[in-house]
Amino acid sequence: MKLKTFFQRAVEIGISADPRGKTLVAKMLRKEQERQKKLEGKEKELADEERTWNPYADSRIINGTGEEEVRHFMVGIDIETQEILLADRLRERGETIDCIFIHHPEGRPLADLGHVMSIQIDVLGCIGVPENQAEWPLGPRIDRIHRSIHADNLFRTERAAELLNFPAFCCHTVTDNLVYQFIEKTICKKKYDDCGEILNTLLDIPEYAYYAKKGNPPIIVNGNRAGRPGKIVASEFTGGTNGPEEFIEKQAHAGVGTILSMHVTEKSLEEAKKHHVNMVQCSHMASDAIGINLLLDRLQKEEKRLTTLDVSGFVRIARTK
Ligand SMILES: [Fe+2]
Ligand SMILES: [Fe+2]
Repeated sequence: MKLKTFFQRAVEIGISADPRGKTLVAKMLRKEQERQKKLEGKEKELADEERTWNPYADSRIINGTGEEEVRHFMVGIDIETQEILLADRLRERGETIDCIFIHHPEGRPLADLGHVMSIQIDVLGCIGVPENQAEWPLGPRIDRIHRSIHADNLFRTERAAELLNFPAFCCHTVTDNLVYQFIEKTICKKKYDDCGEILNTLLDIPEYAYYAKKGNPPIIVNGNRAGRPGKIVASEFTGGTNGPEEFIEKQAHAGVGTILSMHVTEKSLEEAKKHHVNMVQCSHMASDAIGINLLLDRLQKEEKRLTTLDVSGFVRIARTK
């Protein structure tokens, strides 16, 4: 299959699990198409055509034309120059790698990470936090993230991929939407007597079990095993990166008792203590791996010859027979 076909399918699959819903995403894309049509001069030159069909600014092909025929993916959660060199060494030793699948954004997807963060308003909306209550504190957080990334050396990975001739693409919010939806359905919707039961249920998921055996299990970072969970949400699984710490209080007011997160910041933890919200830090790499696996399951149905080589925190666990 062509790289661009894989990538377009990945975006469609990401939309199918988007907390905003397909209709709203389609409306946003139409608005962007209309906006770009009216641009002139420098603004037109710099317009990102990708934004007219792909709603995930942190996911795109970062090296290659998209016309490449690919089916042997090296898949990793963090891919930087060292992993590209690893790919090159492995290729020298006879491994077939014709494309690199990166989870955490690099290059332009990293530069544009802030643009996906507004999804967090919809994630909180699903919990019952009014849109305005989420939007106000989120704005300054997006600005902070954008400013800090803006100063980074953004394009090293894509240059390494270009020099060593590896087509490469990032899929970030695309797969985080999938793991968000999965955790909401398989964990949050169930009833538990105590928080310990949540941990045990998480450990029934093979990626968490795999990481737990290696010493990196899901942990309760606020609360304890005997504590009652109340309403459980997976509000820190998608939306680019962590939201502002004010979100903890908003969720507490909306009736949330336990937040499942991939990674909890110190400031969020302080707020969780203040507002008596339990927090479970699900293993970050295991959580990201679930989202990638769910996408690969779908892609492998469409391209049966698709193979994967796991690196950098990723472990392939197929859910399809
Ligand atoms: Fe992720
Ligand atoms: Fe991540």
